[in-house]
Amino acid sequence: MEPETPSEMAPSQARDFGRALCVITGASKGFGWSLAREIAALLKPGSVLLLVARSGDKLLELQADLASSEARKAGLLVRCVVADLAHKEGVESVIREVRETPGEGLDHLLLFNNAASLGDVSRYVKSFTDMAEVDSYLSFNVSSALCLTSSILGEFPQRSGLRRCVVNVSSLCAVTPFPSWVLYCTGKAARDMMFRVLAEEEPELRVVNYAPGPLDTDMHLQARSSTADPNMRKSFVDMHSQGQLLTCEQSVAKLIKVLLEDDYPSGAHLDFYDL
Ligand SMILES: NC(=O)c1ccc[n+]([C@@H]2O[C@H](COP(=O)([O-])OP(=O)(O)OC[C@H]3O[C@@H](n4cnc5c(N)ncnc54)[C@H](OP(=O)(O)O)[C@@H]3O)[C@@H](O)[C@H]2O)c1
Repeated sequence: MEPETPSEMAPSQARDFGRALCVITGASKGFGWSLAREIAALLKPGSVLLLVARSGDKLLELQADLASSEARKAGLLVRCVVADLAHKEGVESVIREVRETPGEGLDHLLLFNNAASLGDVSRYVKSFTDMAEVDSYLSFNVSSALCLTSSILGEFPQRSGLRRCVVNVSSLCAVTPFPSWVLYCTGKAARDMMFRVLAEEEPELRVVNYAPGPLDTDMHLQARSSTADPNMRKSFVDMHSQGQLLTCEQSVAKLIKVLLEDDYPSGAHLDFYDL
């Protein structure tokens, strides 16, 4: 059986991420929230964990929770950025916060492009005639991830002693068409290719597209209640009622194991079920 927690991992892999700046978008709930909780315990003293989402109250709750446990033990600074990544002002506010993080002494930059939305899955391709609607979806789900990644890498350029790793939280939808999910599939496919190009351009960088599997989150709830395609909707409903959804903790554990082992080809698309 696969090890599910960092403590069960093989002794050959790194045990932590060192002194890091770790940025997680979409940290207010779901996968990003679980990731923040798990990774906090794996950051060395002097690290900074930057939590990004629109829901400031949920980010503050998480920050307080971490302050009372792992972060305090680890001398970790947890900062919240309340930002709507659908707009350039939101992306800029994250970059401002990153700029204020002192780079000296850091041995790891970790960026998790996790925030995403499902878009309107209640309609089929033929009904998407409004360019503004499509642009708005792509602005958040594609453009913001590209511009945020580029800007943060620009703030922390390659130097000896600094490992830089970029994670794109991907999906099966990046490689498989799902009827009535045109925006989501398009966005995920574009993001995967974007990060593959980045991996080609920057061989020193570690880049991974991680498909976390079907997760029991608000996004999945929307999928099983709103999907227009009846076969797809039924399969989501069945997955939920038959207990086939993964917990975020299960999937986060696998991602963390992959990152600590660090032997994936940069730019790869890795799926929870193939690891
Ligand atoms: N759930 C699944 O079955 C599944 C399967 C495969 C892949 N994934 C991928 O896994 C990742 C996490 O999904 P999840 O299921 O955890 O989703 P979720 O529960 O819907 O959480 C999405 C996160 O993104 C944030 N977010 C949404 N819109 C935002 C915006 N405009 N600006 C900033 N932050 C925004 C949300 O926070 P606020 O609302 O507070 O802004 C929240 O923290 C996504 O990339 C998703 O595509 C999920």
